[in-house]
Amino acid sequence: KKVVLAYSGGLDTSIILKWLQTEYDCEVITFTADLGQGEELEPARKKAEMMGATNIYIEDLREEFVRDFVFPMFRANALYEGLYLLGTSIARPLISKRLVEIAAAEGADAVSHGATGKGNDQIRFELAAYALNPEIKVVAPWREWDLGSRTKLIDFAEKHQIPIAKDKRGEAPFSVDANLLHTSSEGKILEDPAEEAPEHVYQRTVSPEAAPDTPEMVEITFERGDAVAINGEMMSPATILTKLNELGGKHGVGRLDLVENRFIGMKSRGVYETPGGTVLLEAHRGIEQITLDSGAGHLKDSIMPRYAELIYNGFWFSPEREMLQALIDKSQEHVSGTVRVKLYKGSVTTVARWSDETLYSEEHVTFEDDMGAYDQSDAQGFIQLNALRLKLLAARNRKTKN
Ligand code: ARG
Ligand code: SIN
Repeated sequence: KKVVLAYSGGLDTSIILKWLQTEYDCEVITFTADLGQGEELEPARKKAEMMGATNIYIEDLREEFVRDFVFPMFRANALYEGLYLLGTSIARPLISKRLVEIAAAEGADAVSHGATGKGNDQIRFELAAYALNPEIKVVAPWREWDLGSRTKLIDFAEKHQIPIAKDKRGEAPFSVDANLLHTSSEGKILEDPAEEAPEHVYQRTVSPEAAPDTPEMVEITFERGDAVAINGEMMSPATILTKLNELGGKHGVGRLDLVENRFIGMKSRGVYETPGGTVLLEAHRGIEQITLDSGAGHLKDSIMPRYAELIYNGFWFSPEREMLQALIDKSQEHVSGTVRVKLYKGSVTTVARWSDETLYSEEHVTFEDDMGAYDQSDAQGFIQLNALRLKLLAARNRKTKN
């Protein structure tokens, strides 16, 4: 039996690796992806080697992650429950896709992950895996083993000579998931939503109070809805997000403390840092303001919550997500141009935008002499016909109310 494990190199997935070998009696192939979490990956290779992994895959997926997952999602301005930029949700389908591909290449019939039985991530990993290979088996050790407590986990690790970092002996302070789009922290000291998150939870943004006193202007250029340049310099998708993270993080942009509804049915409190994504969302809305037709814009906005929920719930690889994506992508055909945003003490604000494909017509909107571009008397009939039913309603109500 062979299983491909999504392996971070941390304590939990190391225990899973060993558990799969000893209790599940199978060969384990590890897969570790660089999604921009900002961790060295060589230690993961060393550990996997030491623990006798049958084969070890370590891949830099940063460009694919941003180009094929983050950017398509940002074309929609996707936010879950009004606030969450979906940093973890959007990474899971890519990890699953590679797990399934590696399983095929290695002749493995199962994949495995370190998500618990209480969360969203198990759903995302597994729905994606089944969508890509209906025959694949999934092993989710957290749902199966009897290592339900930290003490049991540590005992298991010690029994199998799995190295444990000093600070991991006790309870880890909280659970972190990081990639190029965000850092999320959940659990432990964050579990009481009535308690403020301590400053040390934040890892990639300074606090707005500590951010520079001088604002910084940044120009972001878009082509067909995707960012392609910063301050006039063309860059790859992953480089753009890396650069925006730097700029946003320095100015304390993109912090979020949220109690959200997990798909599984419970509420959970998370602290998110999405500096680059928050800048990108604002700038993308900025360029859409002048390049999107109102009908197109309002339609895509109306489907956005549905689209975001599909991604949150793990349905990236589904016909309905792809159908909505086609609609969103079509809307972006003319979303090209440049936006200037101002970063200042936790805020990002659009201050200027321009485009060769703009729909904005100063000639029409001007409060000055429009030289005949627009006939103001046309508005009278427009209003009268729109008012007709309101007038009929008002007249009926006046009659029936007394
Ligand atoms: N609640 C977020 C989501 O469902 C993040 C989940 C993973 N985060 C973590 N710290 N383990 O997308
Ligand atoms: C987990 O349960 O493994 C993390 C949290 C989540 O998936 O929602």
